[in-house]
This record gives sequence, C-alpha cells and structure tokens, in this order.
Amino acid sequence: MATRNQPSYRPPQRYQSRHLPFGDRRDAPFYGKHILSVKQFSRDDLTYIFEVAHEMREMVLRVGSFDLLKGKILANLFYEPSTRTASSFIAAMQRLGGSVIPIHEVRYSSVTKGESLPDTVRTLEAYADVIVLRHPQKGSAELAARYARKPIINAGDGTGEHPTQALLDLFTIREELGQVDGLTITLLGDLKYGRTVHSLARLLSMYRVELHYVSPPQLRMPREIMEEVAQAGIPQHEHTYLDEVLPITDVLYVTRVQKERFSDPAVYEQVKDFYVITPEVMARAKDRMILMHPFPRVYEISEEVDADPRAAYFRQMEYGLYVRMALLAMVLGKA
Ligand code: CP
Repeated sequence: MATRNQPSYRPPQRYQSRHLPFGDRRDAPFYGKHILSVKQFSRDDLTYIFEVAHEMREMVLRVGSFDLLKGKILANLFYEPSTRTASSFIAAMQRLGGSVIPIHEVRYSSVTKGESLPDTVRTLEAYADVIVLRHPQKGSAELAARYARKPIINAGDGTGEHPTQALLDLFTIREELGQVDGLTITLLGDLKYGRTVHSLARLLSMYRVELHYVSPPQLRMPREIMEEVAQAGIPQHEHTYLDEVLPITDVLYVTRVQKERFSDPAVYEQVKDFYVITPEVMARAKDRMILMHPFPRVYEISEEVDADPRAAYFRQMEYGLYVRMALLAMVLGKA
C-alpha cells in the first residue's frame, strides 16, 4: 500500500540511475566520471591522459577527424565568455565525429527566466551524453555534478578551478620540454583570482618541481593552495619582481589580471599593468625555456614577443584540443 511519503510508482528503469549506452567500454578509466578538479587525478592518471592526448594529436595530424564519438552529443553550457575553451571543446567533439548543443549565450536560454543551474543541467542531460560547464561561481561544477547522471566537465568555476586548462598546460610543458620533473616554473600575474594558476599549482605538486610565484602584493597565491602544495613537499617562493627569478626559470606562465573579479576598480587600475613581458624582458630569460599564457591576454605580453620561438602560447591552445579530445573520449568510455 502506498503512503504519502513512499509512493509506489517507479519510473522506468533507465530513468532511475545512470544508464550505460550499448557499446560503451564500462571498464574504461574515467568512464562516466565527472571532471571537476585536478585534485581527483593521480600521477598515473595524468600519464594516461597525456598518452591518449598524444594519440589524438597523431590522429588529427594524420586524418583530421574520425568517428570515435559518432552519435554522441556534447552540451556546451557557458555562463561566462570563452573563446578557447568553448571552441576547443566543440572542435574536439566534431573531430571525434560527435555533435554539440552550444549554449554560449545563456541570456537566450531559460536561465534568464530564472531557471536554476541544477534544472538546466538536468534538462541538458536529457539530450546530451556529456556537459561542459563554465560558470562564474566557485563550486558550481560540483553543484551541477550532484544533480547530473551524465559526466560534467568543469570548464572554469569562478575563482575556483579550471582543470582542463591545467591538464593542457601540463601537456604543453611535457610536449615542449620533454619532461616536467626537475623544472623551475614561475607563475606570474593575478595569482589571487586566476583559476588557471590555482589548478596548475595543484597539478604541478605531483611532480618534482620548484615553484615561484610572482605577483603584486594584492594578488598573491591563496594560502590554502600554497598549503596544499607545501604538503606535497614542493619548494615555493613568492616574489614581487620577475627579475629575481627569470634567469633560472624554465617555464614562465603569465596570467591576465582578472578585471571582472575586482570589487574595487581602483585596485584593478593599480595592478593591471604591473608586469609586461617584452623582447627586452625575454632577453634576460634562458635560451631553452617556454613562455606560456592561458589567454586572453590584455597588457601582460607585448605582441612583439610572439615571434620568439620560446613563446608557446599559440601552440598551447592547440595542445588543448588534443587534451579535450582525450577527456571526452575517456568520460564517454571510448578511450
Ligand atoms: N584559457 C581560457 O580559458 O580561455 P577562454 O576564456 O577563451 O576559454
């Protein structure tokens, strides 16, 4: 007999739990998993992801696109602007033979009518196999994942994390310099609000590296992240001036000052062009090093530096395609 609190009605089985579509490799690592934070990865996971990404690169260079994810659908849900992350996920899905529901202007979706994030996610998973989410609030990807039966990939949650960017950053270092262990890596710019450097510092703590943080005093790396990195035994040093560390740096990772996250515009004006990388600055760097930036850039790297072979930031964007192809294939059980 049904009671008021325990109705006897049960939805059809496939709506009660995650259903596994025919042909998916259920034993595949990461199958059906959310990608929310770099904290979820072990070093072995990273090696695996980079091997798959490397294979994706070979395949793209050889054949352009192939049908590994034919029939699969990605919902690309962006509450914040994006050029690279949004378009590289679309390109990744299309190069793997899948298709995309692009929701890049949430103002044209039912979000403007007041629809909540959990309801939006539960709607999109009715149509798609995987959801990529960028949202201005820290913790939003975790919130979405609590409601979702399909994998959520965090494409940036406010000042929180940007795990797929950190993975592509690490892949870039590995592909360009051959290894990560033993490197001196300098993160420069807005270390307070820049979510890419938060994720990257955490990920680098799995390797034998030395980290230097160069920022104006107002934009230091958050203590909680430095404490996590310290627990892994990684040497960390804070600086205000780049020259203190540039001559020993193997990877210089520059970030934009995140204007949109400042509550006081006057503070932004004080720090926005604190650092500008010019050919004169690069002349003081090692011959064998790379200059990275997650982009978009505003003031912090002059365009004259683009011709320097050490400027890796446009190659870095391309590595992102291969890493995102690997992640999509993995969470959809095809890698
Ligand atoms: N690096 C990065 O996240 O760029 P977009 O904001 O253009 O996606």
